[in-house]
Amino acid sequence: MGIKISIPKETAENERRVAASPESVKKLVKLDCVVTIESNAGKASAFSDAIYKDAGAKIVKSFADTVKGADIILKVQAPSTNEIKDIPKDSLLIAMLAPFVNKSILKDLAKAKIDAFSMEFVPRISRAQSMDVLSSQSNLAGYKSVLDAAEYYPHAFPMMMTAAGTIPPAKVFVMGAGVAGLQAIATAKRLGAVVSATDVRPAAKEQVESLGASFIAVEDDEFKQAETSGGYAKEMSAEYKKKQAELVAQHIAKQDIVITTALIPGRPAPKLISAAMVKSMKAGSVIVDMAVEAGGNCASSKAGEVVNKHDVSIVGHLNIPSRLAADASALYAKNLLNLLNLIIDKESKALAIDYEDEIIKGVCMTKGGEIIHPNFTETKKSEEE
Ligand code: NAI
Repeated sequence: MGIKISIPKETAENERRVAASPESVKKLVKLDCVVTIESNAGKASAFSDAIYKDAGAKIVKSFADTVKGADIILKVQAPSTNEIKDIPKDSLLIAMLAPFVNKSILKDLAKAKIDAFSMEFVPRISRAQSMDVLSSQSNLAGYKSVLDAAEYYPHAFPMMMTAAGTIPPAKVFVMGAGVAGLQAIATAKRLGAVVSATDVRPAAKEQVESLGASFIAVEDDEFKQAETSGGYAKEMSAEYKKKQAELVAQHIAKQDIVITTALIPGRPAPKLISAAMVKSMKAGSVIVDMAVEAGGNCASSKAGEVVNKHDVSIVGHLNIPSRLAADASALYAKNLLNLLNLIIDKESKALAIDYEDEIIKGVCMTKGGEIIHPNFTETKKSEEE
């Protein structure tokens, strides 16, 4: 009998994704896994029960029936407190647990003796690129953010020369040129906008320019050293932030659309757009704050809302990848499959987890009733005291 893998329907608000695609199910079945999926789990991602069934999955009605007897549970988001009660002891849960936001999740899972891997912690090494959920989801979100901007922008993006007059191209400014930002730049360019972008990481400059956008940043000594070995941004000094804010303020006043994607892992998002900068923009301009879930890059954005300030629309949609659920699910399912390939032995078709592997060390949060990830063991200790 192969490994039992279960995929429940997601229950969190705004969550349309699912942790398996028909393609990933087929591949898991080939590995002799027994795949059970909760009915309608893929509905919002356009994967019907019938398609999963054809791929070799068994469809069951409830969460409890789905996870019953499971060796591995694949989810998009962390399970709720009630769901945790139904998950078998000693099973392995793989999801995006968001432990920095969902503060009690690791403690709850450890207490329930559920081993848990959190996919956002896949290290950024080339061997793990195919498992990198932050990249697969941010890339789609970056694309969608430009379409969201277009929806609220009362003008066209491309320049149009018509008999009735000329429409100028939209000016789009992307703040934060990581995975989401670079895709936003590429998408805005494809729509015909004049695009500029900023970032605190010097490596971003070349990437931005190679996409045909101009780079706007204070390029002093601090900027030249502002990247961690993991490729992430560092928190910048107050002095740098002030200089950069002055430059950005002048630039923003001339833009039609601003898309903000700036994040610093494990910290609140940097505030880059002040209320005064919003006021300086033309009527009809649009700001899409992709960092809204991490506190927002714009002082005026509201999580889950589209607000209007001085005739500027500020879009704060939550869970943007989920707004492209079919592709987001397919890519996430592929990321999970690639991780499963690492922990399932091809010969014996049994689980063979190498806890010394750098990737497993990165994602493993709880094991044998304990929180074991070094980033979170301290929190656990201080809570016990
Ligand atoms: P992220 O989602 O953590 O942040 C988004 C962007 O905001 C980053 O480019 C960051 O530098 C920028 N930012 C932070 N503070 C800012 C500020 N005050 N002003 C302006 N911009 C600010 O980053 P993401 O998208 O995850 O990418 C980070 C880096 O990792 C990129 O260089 C990316 O190419 C690299 N990467 C490497 C991978 C690998 O080697 N396997 C996989 C994916 C990404």
